[in-house]
Amino acid sequence: MKEDLQKYIINGGKKLNGEVEIDCSKNAYLPILAACIMCDGVVTLKNCPNFTDIDAMLKVLKVLGAKIEKDETTLYIDCKNIEFSFIPSDLTKIIRSSIFVLGALLARLKKAKISYPGGCDIGLRPIDLHLKGLRQLGVEVQEKHGYIYCDATNLKPNIITLDYPSVGATENLIMACVLTSGTTTILNAAQEPEIVDLQNFINKMGGKISGAGTSQITIEGVSCLKGVVYTPIPDRIIASTLLIACAMTGGELLLTGCEPKHFLSITDKLIKSSCKIVSNNDKIYIQSSGMLNSFGFLDTGPYPSFPTDVQTQMLAMATICSGNTVICENVFESRFKVVPELCKMGAKIKVFNNTAFVEGVKNLFGATVYARDLRGGASLVLAGLCAKGYTTVCDIFHIDRGYSKLEKTLTTLGADIHRVV
Ligand code: UD1
Repeated sequence: MKEDLQKYIINGGKKLNGEVEIDCSKNAYLPILAACIMCDGVVTLKNCPNFTDIDAMLKVLKVLGAKIEKDETTLYIDCKNIEFSFIPSDLTKIIRSSIFVLGALLARLKKAKISYPGGCDIGLRPIDLHLKGLRQLGVEVQEKHGYIYCDATNLKPNIITLDYPSVGATENLIMACVLTSGTTTILNAAQEPEIVDLQNFINKMGGKISGAGTSQITIEGVSCLKGVVYTPIPDRIIASTLLIACAMTGGELLLTGCEPKHFLSITDKLIKSSCKIVSNNDKIYIQSSGMLNSFGFLDTGPYPSFPTDVQTQMLAMATICSGNTVICENVFESRFKVVPELCKMGAKIKVFNNTAFVEGVKNLFGATVYARDLRGGASLVLAGLCAKGYTTVCDIFHIDRGYSKLEKTLTTLGADIHRVV
C-alpha cells in the first residue's frame, strides 16, 4: 500500500469499550535513541513502538554508523563504531528530532554537521535556543548553506538559563554535557516527564544528572557510559487521545501500563465535562455517556500545564460539548490548521490569533477531511468516531508518525474504522 495515499474510512457512532495497553512514549523514545550515541556498549531498548518517527530516527543512527538489530519489539543498539558523518536533509526534513542527535554527537565526537531539522508542520519551530545554549558551552556553531556545523573541541561546563523551557533544547544541552568533566546547570529547564526519563536512562548508563522534572537540572560529566537494558515510559499523549475518544463516543475504557499522574491536566478537563475517571497506579478507567458538558477554558503551556500535543483532540471534543469552550494555544502557532477540517464536519469554531472559540453542536457529520499534522490528524479520527455517517481522513501518514496502527486499537474497542488506499 503506498503510504502517502492511505486513508481512514470511519463509520461513526459506535461506542468504545474495552482494555488497551499503552505503547512507550514517542517523545521519550526519540531522545533516548539519540543518547545511545554516547554509549560505548550495546543498549537494549524494550517495547519499541511501531511509529514511523522512530523508524526515521533509527535511519539517522544507521547513517552515523550505529549497528541496530530488532527482535520483535526489542531494539539492540550498538554505537561503538559511530563516526563523524553529516546527516542528510532528506532525513532531517522528515524528523525534527534529528536535532537531538546534535548534543549527543558533540558529546561523543566533538563535531557534527546536520541540515536544518523538519518534523510536524505546526509552526516555525526554530532551533535558536539549542544553538544559543551550545554556544554558551563553548561550542563553535556556524550556520551556512542550510547546514549547521558545530565544533565542541572547547566544550566547557557552564550555567545556562534558557529563555523558554524548550523540551528539545533541554534534552540536547543535557546530552552535550554528559561526557564533559565538570558541572553544568540548566536553569528554566523544561520539566516534561520525557526529560525525567532521559535522565533516568543516561544515569542507568553511568551518567550523573539530577533535577530533571524541576526547572533546574545539573549535569556532572563522566568519562564514559556503559550498555544497559531500558524500557522508556508510556505515552501520555496516546493515553489522553484514547480517553478523549471514549469521552466523545461514550463507553467504558481501561488503559493499562500508563502513568495517570503524567496527564492529570487532561483528566481534570474530562471530569469537568462529566466523564467518570478512576485511576490506580498504572491503570486508568473512564466511563462516558457521550453527552458532554463544556470544560470551559483550556490554555496550553510547558509541563505541567496542558500539553499542546493534546490540544487538537480536546478541540475536537469541545465541538460536541454542550455550551461554549475557549481554547488558547500558547506553544505552536499553527496548531489550529485542523479547524477548517473540523468545520467541514459541522463544527462551529472561530479562531482569533491564538484562541479558538467553540460553540458546541449536537452532532458532527461525516466528511472527507485532511490530516495536516500528527495530532491534528488524530483529532480528525476522534471527530469521525462520533460523527453521523462516514468520514474519510486522508494523509494518515501524519498519524502513523506517533500512533501504532491506530485503526487496530480502535477496532478492538468496537470502532468501525478501516485503512484503505
Ligand atoms: C517537543 C515534542 C513535541 C511537543 C513539544 C512541546 C518531542 C520529539 N517533541 O517538541 O511533541 O509538542 O515538545 O511540548 O519531544 N522554540 C524556540 N526556539 C528553540 C526551540 C523551541 O523558539 O530553539 C519554541 C518553539 O517554536 C515552540 C516552543 O519553543 O513555540 C516549544 O518548543 P519545544 O519545547 O522545543 O518543542 P520540541 O522539543 O520541538
